[in-house]
Amino acid sequence: MTTAFITGASSGIGRAMAIELHGAGYEVFAVGRSQAALEELRTHGIKPIALDITDRKALEAVVNDLHVDVLINNAGMIPPLGNFADMEVSDIDATLEVNLRAALLLTRLVVPQMRDRAAGHILFTGSSAAHTAFSNIAVYSATKAALGAFAAALRADLSPHGVRVTEIVAGRVETQLYKDILDKNARAAMYAGNVAVQPEDVAKMVLAVLALPARADVTRFDIMPTRPTSPSGTK
Ligand SMILES: NC(=O)c1ccc[n+]([C@@H]2O[C@H](COP(=O)([O-])OP(=O)(O)OC[C@H]3O[C@@H](n4cnc5c(N)ncnc54)[C@H](OP(=O)(O)O)[C@@H]3O)[C@@H](O)[C@H]2O)c1
Repeated sequence: MTTAFITGASSGIGRAMAIELHGAGYEVFAVGRSQAALEELRTHGIKPIALDITDRKALEAVVNDLHVDVLINNAGMIPPLGNFADMEVSDIDATLEVNLRAALLLTRLVVPQMRDRAAGHILFTGSSAAHTAFSNIAVYSATKAALGAFAAALRADLSPHGVRVTEIVAGRVETQLYKDILDKNARAAMYAGNVAVQPEDVAKMVLAVLALPARADVTRFDIMPTRPTSPSGTK
């Protein structure tokens, strides 16, 4: 059975990908911190792994024993919106740690086995914020741009070994991403009017990308709301 290791699978886009891939016959390992959300996934037949992806030792202990065919670096957070001049250094650190460093280190743990097998697929959930400048999210944008550049260079390293790499460039998707930094009303307003992409839409696209023959590598796909959304700091 093909295995998929998905970070940030306890919620939003990652959860939808976990369910979609499981439904398509993958053995799915779902990573997150929320025990309750992971237990709910277990009822779908998905294998939960509760850990904080910034805990390198915990990641290493889990990944070293696993055969991973598909790695989806999806976990992410968005720091409080605001002018970079006012940003807390602790928020800069946390964003770099979760969105960038953890993804790089997890990828480093997994790619040797893929290179040895001359097969595998690594995906990164990036953002439109990496490719267009928006105010109030400078560090978030920087982490997503770095993931995009990393994905491209990683592909150059691994394509000769038969490993595919895909950057997912998502626009506004209706998830819990803003739950810690915007109140309920602000979040409801953001998704009002049916303008947001749904997590399941992204998941279906990921499944289609994975289903292509190994000779075809979708290097990047963009998925945006059909209708225009406010440009101010909400990706
Ligand atoms: N929603 C959008 O509009 C949008 C647009 C572009 C890109 N994205 C990206 O999509 C990805 C998924 O976000 P989402 O929108 O689906 O938001 P979400 O519903 O908030 O999901 C975020 C996921 O990341 C996990 N996570 C965060 N910090 C973690 C940590 N330290 N250790 C382990 N897991 C951690 C969360 O799990 P726990 O809380 O259980 O740990 C959760 O499963 C993120 O990378 C985000 O930047 C989202």
